[in-house]
Amino acid sequence: MKKTLKIAIDGPSGAGKSSLAKGVAAKLGLTYVDTGALYRTVGLHTLRNGVDAADTEGIISLLPSLTVEMANEDGAQHVYLCGEDVTDKIRTPEVSHYASSVSAVPEVRKFLFSLQREIADKRDVIMDGRDIGTVILPDADLKVFLTASAEARARRRYIELTEKGIETSVELLIAQQKERDERDSSRDVAPLVPADDAVLLDNSQISLQETIDEVIRFAREKKLIAE
Ligand code: DC
Repeated sequence: MKKTLKIAIDGPSGAGKSSLAKGVAAKLGLTYVDTGALYRTVGLHTLRNGVDAADTEGIISLLPSLTVEMANEDGAQHVYLCGEDVTDKIRTPEVSHYASSVSAVPEVRKFLFSLQREIADKRDVIMDGRDIGTVILPDADLKVFLTASAEARARRRYIELTEKGIETSVELLIAQQKERDERDSSRDVAPLVPADDAVLLDNSQISLQETIDEVIRFAREKKLIAE
């Protein structure tokens, strides 16, 4: 089989992984794979079946009845839950909560492993998530661990929420962000840690375009793309 190009982007929520990955994908002609969407789909299935987010056994018992598929349609990623296109339905706060719970269950991570691996073996990809460089694509050609300070991430989120008419405060968002970081990096299952060979990129002080340019520069340095 022809070797495909694989770029892994990991990091905490709100660091801007998906915007970065989409930008690099467009520039280098790679397929962008948002792996969080897979955990969200399992979360939606759990929610629809009336299983509590904290009920680990209940979540595991649903896996045999579940099929998750991904397709690239007109350049956009779609996810299917038992044949139904749920791409838009997985973006609610309730599903985010369920996605976070199911992602801490080792059986769920195992269930989604081969799907992610198969996608990366078939085409040139840039994949974003939490464990791409460490678990899913340990052999990735380039691994980027994208971070930004809790303050910078909270400030971006504040702008996003206020634009949607949702009232909140930067202080509250910073506190929530720090709490989530602590939980994600200290959990037993797939804790959020950079791979040993990942490049650390902090985008607290730089724009999205500058962040994209940095990753393109890394790819060039590694001779993954032409000068
Ligand atoms: O990136 P996101 O917010 O769409 O991810 C949804 C949830 O899934 C989030 O709680 C983190 C988790 N996740 C994970 O554990 N591993 C991944 N590779 C991707 C997402």
